[in-house]
Amino acid sequence: MASAEHHPFEFQTALKDLANSANLKAVPSKFNFINDSTALPCDSLPVIDFSAITAEDPDRRSQAINDLSNACQEWGLFILVNHGIPEELMNATFTATREFFSLPESEKKKYEAKSASDPINCGNFNVADTSNQIFTLWREYLKLYVHPDFHCPNKPHLLSDVLREYSERTLKLTRKLMEATSDALELERDYVEQVLKLDSSLQILVANLYPPCPEPGKAIGLPQHTDPGLFTFLIHNGVAGLQIEHNGQWFNPVSPQNSILVNVDDQLQILSNGRYKSVKHRAVLNSEKERISIVVANGPSGEAVVGPATPLVQKDGRPLYRSMRYVEYLETQLTKSRMNGKSLLEQR
Ligand code: SIN
Ligand code: FE2
Repeated sequence: MASAEHHPFEFQTALKDLANSANLKAVPSKFNFINDSTALPCDSLPVIDFSAITAEDPDRRSQAINDLSNACQEWGLFILVNHGIPEELMNATFTATREFFSLPESEKKKYEAKSASDPINCGNFNVADTSNQIFTLWREYLKLYVHPDFHCPNKPHLLSDVLREYSERTLKLTRKLMEATSDALELERDYVEQVLKLDSSLQILVANLYPPCPEPGKAIGLPQHTDPGLFTFLIHNGVAGLQIEHNGQWFNPVSPQNSILVNVDDQLQILSNGRYKSVKHRAVLNSEKERISIVVANGPSGEAVVGPATPLVQKDGRPLYRSMRYVEYLETQLTKSRMNGKSLLEQR
């Protein structure tokens, strides 16, 4: 697939104001992306009880690890419950990021994106569709590199504390999930930690704000894609919009309050030599309510060279993917405008 020559970043955070203006009846043409967001409701997603993953009782733990492994194979996604993150902290992330998006343009412009590796950046994003037409996503975002070094704007004043605590907690959960995954794949935990260099893992937090859209079928929040890392944690403010693909069908996942939706990402698909599936997903719009999602992408270290785990390649007879530094993977993914529906895994 030809990569589109375009400038992906745009600073035009007035999208929120544009969407709120009473007389906006149609989507301005620069946002045009005609899409059919038909999807089935889905209330049968795998549920993983985090307290069982870390249980002392070996039978309980091995049952939970088995469930986790099945979820990663069949869906590439699960609902995490009993994770220990207080609901107040989750609510505080929505409040603080909403305040950030409401700051004056001049304040937000300080963080205008110049490159994908800016540790703090915000604005809008332009992507290319399959016929290389450039369009702007109906979404404002704030993207922060939060580990190994924590970066965050200093306004609004609670934002930094709240996001730091939320990121640290999700990182700890990810480490435990990676231990469980290593056990499920019959890999040495130390081997996985060393290959992925998890002590300096790259963790990126993205807050998304999707304003109500007058014509939801003519613009999109995020076109279908897979996430690049290991596990991505997603919470949202109770407004539906995330859709996931499963066996060629799109679904609207229903997740109970206070749960976290966890996606399997590309690096885990690669490490497992294709046993686990990086789930395809997208964010669609509605005409009534503002939606906020907080996404924490937990990856290996940027410097880790990730390929299929050697013991699995020995079992399978061949590697299904080639090895690549994670930062290189991220760069390639961006320049290949992954948002056009093909993940880098398929482009290889
Ligand atoms: C994402 O895919 O990163 C965000 C999806 C969502 O906002 O639900
Ligand atoms: Fe995503």
